[in-house]
Amino acid sequence: MIPCLVPDLPPAAELLPWLQRIDENRWYTNGGPLVREFEQRLSAFIAGGDGVSCVTLASGMSALELGLLALGIGAGKRVLLPALTFPATALAVARCGAEPVLCDVSAETWAMTPSIARQALARSRVDAVVPVASFGCPLPAEEWADFASDTGVPVLADAAAALGAQKISGQVQWAFSLHATKPMGVGEGGLFVSADGALAEKVRRLANFSFEHFVACSSHGTNAKMSEYAAAVGLAQLERWPRLLQRRREVFDEYRRRLAALPQVTMQPLVAPPATLCVRLPADAAAVAAALAQSEIETRRWYLPPLHRHPAFGRVRCLGPAGSERLPVTEQLATSLLGLPFHSRLGSEDVATVVAALATAIGNPGTG
Ligand SMILES: Cc1ncc(COP(=O)(O)O)c(C=O)c1O
Repeated sequence: MIPCLVPDLPPAAELLPWLQRIDENRWYTNGGPLVREFEQRLSAFIAGGDGVSCVTLASGMSALELGLLALGIGAGKRVLLPALTFPATALAVARCGAEPVLCDVSAETWAMTPSIARQALARSRVDAVVPVASFGCPLPAEEWADFASDTGVPVLADAAAALGAQKISGQVQWAFSLHATKPMGVGEGGLFVSADGALAEKVRRLANFSFEHFVACSSHGTNAKMSEYAAAVGLAQLERWPRLLQRRREVFDEYRRRLAALPQVTMQPLVAPPATLCVRLPADAAAVAAALAQSEIETRRWYLPPLHRHPAFGRVRCLGPAGSERLPVTEQLATSLLGLPFHSRLGSEDVATVVAALATAIGNPGTG
């Protein structure tokens, strides 16, 4: 079986020096020295240390939820997000007590664009916008910064799978996931990033029961802190990053080269290797997935069903194109996108096997 995803976390020998530091410090959570060091290094990694605050958290979903709360999103507020995403994006909105409002995505980038968001704003009041870096493909940071300053509507970008690829812009807030399957996986973890230090401190407080000076709760916070052990994995992972990136780039280039022989198969337009490798097929993705499974190739259909097809979100407001309530691009992509095996252990022969099986499944057996 060729697996779809194989997490690549540091082996025990690379973790040991960091674990020994925990032993020496005897400090296990609550903003310990490893968490602080991880946050400092992340801010250098993301923005060259250039004025961004990083708050490590328990998960990517908590980065979204607490980021929204810090922006003042709660009951009675509306948050616009694309219907084509992982459910955590909408769950975070709902858990703040706010109303998720769904829009379509672009057929070219498979993501909500500032232009789609502007059209939605013309039809409905929106109190915040959450664009999603679909399948880990980075968002156009400057365009979203312009959107935030032109409209005055706060933007919290769900860049869950895009850490290491996503450029940051100051007017936008950013949420990342450090889940084991993400490029910078630590197991479970998340990251909130902002150029607004006061907002980042609000998120930090919300993640620690909203304690003010360890005495009184200032609001309804939660416990979403990162422990020193997760930070230890993160620090070891940052040191491995050049190797991890190089390997993903090689596998990505191999796919790009081989998939060029299948013009009916579209890759997401990209400059960097993504977190996952999702392709758009000319055929029903379910049938192709079943055919690949017969050849012992595991695939995934991420973001399926789209949000408005989940029972929890079946009644949400949908702002489709041209004043409609339909989301045609999302519906079409949901049936035609397929995640192919993509991880650091794939060799070029594996990629050749996957692309050959894909060619056969879509009726183009001579290629790959
Ligand atoms: C787009 C998106 N948003 C949010 C999340 C949630 O991240 P986490 O699993 O770290 O809570 C994910 C996780 O896969 C995701 O893909």
